[in-house]
Amino acid sequence: MTEPSVRRLTGADAADWQRLRLEALSTYPEAFLTTHDEAAAVPLDTVAERLDTGHSFGVFQDAALVGIGSLIPLAKAQTKHRAEIGAFFVQSAAQGSGAAAALMDAIAKGAGHIGVRQLELYVAASNTRAIAFYTRAGFREVGQIPNATLSNGHAETDLIMLRELT
Ligand SMILES: CC(C)(COP(=O)(O)OP(=O)(O)OC[C@H]1O[C@@H](n2cnc3c(N)ncnc32)[C@H](O)[C@@H]1OP(=O)(O)O)[C@@H](O)C(=O)NCCC(=O)NCCS
Repeated sequence: MTEPSVRRLTGADAADWQRLRLEALSTYPEAFLTTHDEAAAVPLDTVAERLDTGHSFGVFQDAALVGIGSLIPLAKAQTKHRAEIGAFFVQSAAQGSGAAAALMDAIAKGAGHIGVRQLELYVAASNTRAIAFYTRAGFREVGQIPNATLSNGHAETDLIMLRELT
């Protein structure tokens, strides 16, 4: 397997992005705020437009897209030094391979290029693997949101994690 490579995704990647997004939401529904059905209802044109205008990245192994992650800057004058990371997912077969770390590195570099100084994310308190990954990537827990999601009567707490970029 070749080393992972990462690039910003564009509208031309819409079908691949949507395929991975739906795989993430069906395989790990408890890890995301969006449901599979909500994401499946988004037309491919809209996905393409979001990719063209946003900051989504993809990690590739052997020319195949194996992971995705989005940087979502907070647009207001007083908050534009901050950005959220969302839709972060690496396919099961590529987990533990360094693909996730390569993806996070590229997102952090991309954030620096647009003046973002602080990365923030939400992660389910039960998602121990993701929390371990984010901690190694330089994030720390700064708070919790009880009842962040309610699904089939089950309430899940989210951790708020933050990383300052130097
Ligand atoms: C979160 C994710 C991107 C991390 O990528 P990854 O390739 O799995 O990450 P790594 O293997 O490099 O690191 C995971 C850490 O969890 C540990 N780990 C491995 N299996 C584990 C398990 N079953 N339970 C808990 N921790 C586990 C690893 O040892 C590693 O710990 P370390 O940093 O102390 O060495 C990936 O697992 C994923 O896409 N998960 C499903 C979607 C998801 O949860 N996304 C995050 C939404 S907020």
